[in-house]
Amino acid sequence: MAEHTLLTQRPAWAALQSHFQGLKAAHLRDLFAADPGRGTRLTAEAVGVFADYSKNRVTDETLKLLFALAGECDLKGRIEAMFGGEKINITENRAVLHTALRAPKGAVVTVDGKNVVPEVHEVLDAMSAFADRVRSGAWKGHTGKPIRSVVNIGIGGSDLGPVMANEALRFYAQRDLTFRFLSNVDGTDFAETVRDLDPAETLFIVCSKTFTTQETMTNAESARAWSLATLKDPASVAKHFAAVSTNAAKVKEFGIDTANMFGFWDWVGGRYSMDSAVGLATVLALGPTHFRQMLDGFHAMDQHFRTTPFEKNVPVILGLISVWYGSFFGAETAAVLPYDQYLKRFPAYLQQLTMESNGKRVTLGGAEVDYQTGAVYWGEPGTNGQHSFYQLIHQGTKLIPCDFIAFSKSLNPVGRHHDLLMANVFAQAEALAFGKTAEQVRADKVEEWLVPHKTFPGNRPSNVLLLEKLTPFALGTLVALYEHIVFTQGVIWDIGSFDQWGVELGKALASRIVPELEAATEPDLKHDSSTNALIRRYRQGKK
Ligand code: F6P
Repeated sequence: MAEHTLLTQRPAWAALQSHFQGLKAAHLRDLFAADPGRGTRLTAEAVGVFADYSKNRVTDETLKLLFALAGECDLKGRIEAMFGGEKINITENRAVLHTALRAPKGAVVTVDGKNVVPEVHEVLDAMSAFADRVRSGAWKGHTGKPIRSVVNIGIGGSDLGPVMANEALRFYAQRDLTFRFLSNVDGTDFAETVRDLDPAETLFIVCSKTFTTQETMTNAESARAWSLATLKDPASVAKHFAAVSTNAAKVKEFGIDTANMFGFWDWVGGRYSMDSAVGLATVLALGPTHFRQMLDGFHAMDQHFRTTPFEKNVPVILGLISVWYGSFFGAETAAVLPYDQYLKRFPAYLQQLTMESNGKRVTLGGAEVDYQTGAVYWGEPGTNGQHSFYQLIHQGTKLIPCDFIAFSKSLNPVGRHHDLLMANVFAQAEALAFGKTAEQVRADKVEEWLVPHKTFPGNRPSNVLLLEKLTPFALGTLVALYEHIVFTQGVIWDIGSFDQWGVELGKALASRIVPELEAATEPDLKHDSSTNALIRRYRQGKK
């Protein structure tokens, strides 16, 4: 671990603080007016992702100081530590090597003295072979019928990545296969997922890194019972269930043939696993070639992040700017606004990636931080969001940095739609930055009392990420971009981005409460008075 000067005691932090005092009132209108080259200079490009970050409340000096801070925090060294397989997930004593999942055959990435790349490719090859059989109909269900429906059972990182990727890349999917994603322990999710499926044509993928997650195992057991109720024969499980896990023993115990198990490793975090075997549903939908193109996109962005000087490094620049808003401007949230309907689940995916990673309040050394860490990420596709929550971003009291994500070419060119869509991206970023002054409103001959209502303050920051087309490669670059933004943030904030202890307490308390809800006779409740009363009322109500 690097030496631990507290972040707020670093010279670059102090310099940023005094710089902030001078810059906080500056308006983007003035920054642009004073610098005609700003809109083309404050841009960077990484493997097809063009990032315009000029509409941020930064100057060249801000960026210089942020790069200096990155230097003081040894960002370069930390990047090398991650890529090199060091155990940077210190609270779990694990390497963090999602980048090895997309390393090309022949690359060498060593964990505990062992090159992990050959195993990664073995699993990829096995996934590809399995996918080819299912997609072609060569894989037969228990009664001899081919598979028509695939249900991925998983939650968190074992759900959100496949859900997002299958939606994002649906254009490339084999349309005669139906994909569903079952995650919630709510029986409604189970019932609605299977209600119109034929067990003889359905393949379940039980996807769980640990194979112990309550929601997933409960759904998997219900799925097995549902399947066996029709197929009758326990031997049918081998034809209708596959597993994705790091835990072969538990997979076996559940009754899934380990021949149908696709493994991964403890150095892949759940929220960083969509390009591991967790992507089995994605390979099934898209086919191996598209899946590998997606991995190539991830890898290309990895290389950019690892080798590009900070001044041109897109994840580093965007990561540092987000630290600037969070820790200096006090921005509490960040909006991600994809202008592509296929990316409708991208914000939900990013919520786990960003918030489970950087929702931390102590440093790696265990000290409580005295600055803001991870933001609340949220968003919806445009233009829909424009007609619901953008009002608050434009005229509310909160500073919400926005990332607009857009593509020059539509996958579904229909009439004027794409030009209209893109006009909205550019207009929103422009309106947020420059607003509309009271003078401009008055020039529209608006009655004086209405002027404040119709004034837009502007100075609301955004990035525009412009890519050519939503391809599997492009999706890989985008996801890896955000993974590395999160990494950059975590290094600066000096927090552990790769554990998630915050989810444990609720899990433990729930398992204590389950028997109290299921007990035949009134249990002896020892919670607080509110929890006790709620449990009693529930028990009463469910009778
Ligand atoms: O509870 C949080 C979490 O551990 C996530 O980090 C993880 O992605 C999810 O649960 C699912 O875990 P698993 O893949 O082990 O079922």
